[in-house]
Amino acid sequence: MDREQARHEMERLRREIERHNGLYYQADAPEISDADYDRLVRELTELEVRFPDLASKDSPSRQVGGDVDTRFASVPHSRPMLSLQNSYDEAEIEAFDQRVRKDLGEDSVLYTVEPKIDGVALAVRYRDGLLALGLTRGDGRQGDDITANAATIAGIPGRLADGHQLAFPDGQVGEFEVRGEVYFALSRFNELNIQRQEHDMPLLANPRNAAAGTLKTLDSAEVKRRGLSVFIYQLLRLDGGSGFLDHQAELSALKQLGFPVNPFLRTAADLTGLRSHLEELEKIRPDLDYLIDGAVIKVDRLDWQEALRATAKAPRWGMAFKFAAEEAVTQLRSVTLQVGRTGVITPVGELDPVNLAGTTVSRATLHNWEEIGRKDIREGDTVIVAKGGDVIPKILRVVKTDRTGSERQIAQPPTCPVCSAKVQRKPGEVALRCINTLCPAVLAGRLKHFVSRDACDIEGLGGKWIETFLDLGLISQPADLFRLDREALVAMSGWGEKSADRLQQGLLRAKLRPWSAKIFALGIPQVGVTTAETLARKYPNLAMLGKADLEELADLPDIGETAGNAVLDFLAAEPGAVVISGLQEVGFFLDKEAVPASGHQQDNWFTGKICVLTGTLADMTRNQAKQAIQALGGKVTGSVSAKTDFVVTGQVAGSKLERARKLGVLVLDEAEFQARLAAAANDPGEQEHAD
Ligand code: IVH
Repeated sequence: MDREQARHEMERLRREIERHNGLYYQADAPEISDADYDRLVRELTELEVRFPDLASKDSPSRQVGGDVDTRFASVPHSRPMLSLQNSYDEAEIEAFDQRVRKDLGEDSVLYTVEPKIDGVALAVRYRDGLLALGLTRGDGRQGDDITANAATIAGIPGRLADGHQLAFPDGQVGEFEVRGEVYFALSRFNELNIQRQEHDMPLLANPRNAAAGTLKTLDSAEVKRRGLSVFIYQLLRLDGGSGFLDHQAELSALKQLGFPVNPFLRTAADLTGLRSHLEELEKIRPDLDYLIDGAVIKVDRLDWQEALRATAKAPRWGMAFKFAAEEAVTQLRSVTLQVGRTGVITPVGELDPVNLAGTTVSRATLHNWEEIGRKDIREGDTVIVAKGGDVIPKILRVVKTDRTGSERQIAQPPTCPVCSAKVQRKPGEVALRCINTLCPAVLAGRLKHFVSRDACDIEGLGGKWIETFLDLGLISQPADLFRLDREALVAMSGWGEKSADRLQQGLLRAKLRPWSAKIFALGIPQVGVTTAETLARKYPNLAMLGKADLEELADLPDIGETAGNAVLDFLAAEPGAVVISGLQEVGFFLDKEAVPASGHQQDNWFTGKICVLTGTLADMTRNQAKQAIQALGGKVTGSVSAKTDFVVTGQVAGSKLERARKLGVLVLDEAEFQARLAAAANDPGEQEHAD
């Protein structure tokens, strides 16, 4: 590889890693497995070593964690909150052991082995026995102040038991910090999902993401209700030396202080010992009531840990050994066909329900017929399933020795299973598509996408209702949602005044969504959240987007010619042009589209204001309220201070409302808030002058 190629490749890797960082840390929706992510970082690091002058100081290979969230106050960590170097095989552990012994100049080093909890890192500070601060990892240097949420976790006491000084060798302690991993017990996670199912709420995709999202919820009462758990694995003394000789002693002290410490702790001084502990842990893994994604191996002696120090990213005294994704064996009963919003027909395997990494799996995607052919999957097969990137289950392989001869080939359908139109495979694509742009499944998919969270985020209109409205002929494209007659809705069984109002408010707020979310909502093939953001930055409104040409599009980061052509096709022809002109008629597009957290949108009453939400709102979730405020250029924070411009109160508002009153901060009830939102949305400039 020459210099120019390396520069190109490094740029590509940096962008790719940053995109996955955003998905993992901000959106809590990773697209790739940890192993694939590590591979990207490793590739970048290798190139940085070969071409040091091309390495950038702020390279993602040197950073830990995502950006700090603006909803919470950002507080510096007492010491950097690093990550651990990952390893996937024994050779890497051996290399680690050799390096450690060489650096320390010792023949033999004792290591501890403990589970690597698959959750979210948390740091908690105690001053004089009282909980003083709870921080997320943030970017590793500064974290988000989520003290109120941390305090709701059963394992994080607000006050330590009398005599807690006994846990410290010198009996003296002012300030100290504990660090650990917050997680959902699998039993609790499954319970929550059962409750959500009963209330027709979207299910939590996986325990780790759910824990991350919960820890960063603005409503501490909700955090408490969800019931997070924690394991503490580190104790830092902030006003003196550690006082403990080794990691084992540190863990005992934590236990004595009343913190939950994981019961699995082993020690070994050589590879044979380490191997047997790793095997033991992997064996008990399926029986645990929480997810682990590996083991953490640490040098036991703390003075040696200190001597080994850390790189910019990870300490040199420890290493994570990652287990392979959990697998399960089950039967593939049958295959059903799903038609998505772009017409792509996806074969879905119906499985005998099986427990996999804490959740019951009964379906798995088979992707397409090329994949089915490559893996030679047949109906009736015994199959091995795993969660891809630990989120969506997939079939890894078939147990061919179990075949009886009665298994059935999975044939490609000659016509669409929903509308019976012809199916087609575009040259160069593996996907099979229904070519009917009016196929009911395609229309339903497009409408569901339009109202979905990352798109228009319209609450109160689940998939079931979209299908009903389609069947009744009330809607066929997104614009029709804005034309639904309120009175007709109220008269429908299952609807009433309240739900109709809620939908109308949701539709109103849809017009205020950030421009990138609106682009995403259109459902342009190849345009995901990130590409929509890139487009929104380049073309600030629909008129500008309409003038885009291929050369310009192909030049934008992460777009290229294929996606560029998809955008142009969508704008120019059916079905895109029809969707867009309909939305234009109902005033969905604005001349000045909203851009989150920047000054581009037209000034309005919310621009630049700092807001705090408290209590439960009747007609929108906090997240929706937050996004509406942000779309209008306001900022939402977690606690009331002299800097707060206004507080929105819902039902059962607590101490924040009291504090706002004390500080003389403007308080809006829900109706006043809605009125201001509507005014700012309909005529932003006018509102500003009237105020
Ligand atoms: S020790 C320098 N012990 O894994 C960090 N970490 O990639 C030392 N984790 O940031 C951490 N279980 O969030 C340690 N028993 C354990 C752990 C553990 C899970 C997480 C933690 C850390 C990440 C490292």
